[in-house]
Amino acid sequence: MSRTRIIFATGNAGKVREIKDIVGHMGIEVLTMREAGVETDPLEDGTSFEENALIKARSVAALVRKAEEEGRMEGPGQGVMNIVMSDDSGLVVDALGGAPGIYSARFQGRDTDYRVKMNYIMDQLRDVPWEGRTARFTAAVAAVLPDGRAFTVLGHMEGHIGYEIAGENGFGYDPFFYLPQYGKTSAEISPEEKNAISHRGRALRAMVARLQEEGVL
Ligand code: IMP
Repeated sequence: MSRTRIIFATGNAGKVREIKDIVGHMGIEVLTMREAGVETDPLEDGTSFEENALIKARSVAALVRKAEEEGRMEGPGQGVMNIVMSDDSGLVVDALGGAPGIYSARFQGRDTDYRVKMNYIMDQLRDVPWEGRTARFTAAVAAVLPDGRAFTVLGHMEGHIGYEIAGENGFGYDPFFYLPQYGKTSAEISPEEKNAISHRGRALRAMVARLQEEGVL
């Protein structure tokens, strides 16, 4: 096939920019679900980041295959290989047995301010010394190919739960996530610095490497 496209199962422009930065130089086009005309929001009822990423990717892939078959989207017939990718991520706190994990977005309520969520976690960890405050952001990236093959990879960013909130960059749980190598939280480093070490950046790069190994890219 002559052209490869990645349809990323997200509405988040930041995630699409990140994957474009990684594969843009390879001449691969990256589209959001909306741009591809295949929007869906499946119930992510898996028990791991990988399962949830795969649920999303498979459900978008089913719509892509249907659109290709019905001639609403360029596909194998036009020499186009549409690869569907998705991600699922969250914060894993060791002293909380891995919570909030796959429930990170809905932890303490989906619409609850992240300062409230972070203060709740810091309160739970009030008696935990620095060595025990280890945590990581984890991201799973899933890819589903036109022939039905599916792959998942994981990426991590290691750190500690701090004692206070600091920084304006990033989003979600970044302001209390302390990166020892920077002496700052992940909300205090620049977006470029974060992309270089982030769980999602690592997982996306690992997926590209995996697809290259498989001879797909
Ligand atoms: P999702 O994978 O986009 O559904 O994100 C899951 C949730 O994990 C987000 O809503 C955040 O609460 C949290 N999360 C994932 N990655 C990060 C990050 O890089 N910084 C801060 N919070 C994150």
